[in-house]
Amino acid sequence: MVLPEKIADSVINDLYSWYEYTSLPNYTPKKPVKADLNPFPKSKANSPLCHVSVSNWCKSSGYKAFSKERTERCGRLTADVAKKLVEMLNEVKAGTFVPKYPLDNVTMKCRTCHCKGSSLEDTRGKMACWECHTKNITLVDEMENHPKI
Ligand code: HEC
Ligand code: HEC
Repeated sequence: MVLPEKIADSVINDLYSWYEYTSLPNYTPKKPVKADLNPFPKSKANSPLCHVSVSNWCKSSGYKAFSKERTERCGRLTADVAKKLVEMLNEVKAGTFVPKYPLDNVTMKCRTCHCKGSSLEDTRGKMACWECHTKNITLVDEMENHPKI
């Protein structure tokens, strides 16, 4: 909302990628509100979607989706994201902003055939493709039943 569209796109993409691939939460409040765990369990969301982020955290931490611990986790996570965005906005203002968080290699590879300017051009996505379509693939050739060209 506060940046010209082109630079806003670049900041948003970088913020999302940072969020997807960073182990969070990092923020420790002076006074925990819902639950105090030490160390506080972290996880990588691998997705900008709430559902995926929450469920991956539940899986790695062992806490339930409606637990106090999960509420605390999402509060801390939100603080982390707000802080990161402010840092990025300050960098833009100082003229020092450069995107630092590229998409992962597998997703980049998928995009060479499925995204803008590719032969198929049937998606516009930047989310990690493998999070929904298949797990643990490094090469297209390893994707079970994936069409070959
Ligand atoms: C070398 C080019 C290439 C790459 C790289 C590639 N695809 Fe595809 N993909 C294709 C082709 C060709 C089709 C078949 C399209 C059709 O039949 O319309 C296809 C089809 C699909 C489909 C449709 C499902 C199906 O079985 O028809 C999905 C989903 C898909 N790809 C996901 C991915 C994902 C996820 C990746 C990265 C892991 C990926 N693709 C990488 C070429 C590629
Ligand atoms: C959040 C989950 C999610 C992510 C992430 C995701 N997809 Fe999909 N994708 C879907 C769903 C759901 C469908 C629809 C499947 C259906 O209705 O059969 C779909 C459909 C597709 C199709 C058409 C499938 C067909 O049957 O023809 C292609 C191609 C595709 N996705 C490629 C990609 C690529 C490439 C990426 C990464 C840039 C990606 N997807 C990321 C969930 C996802």
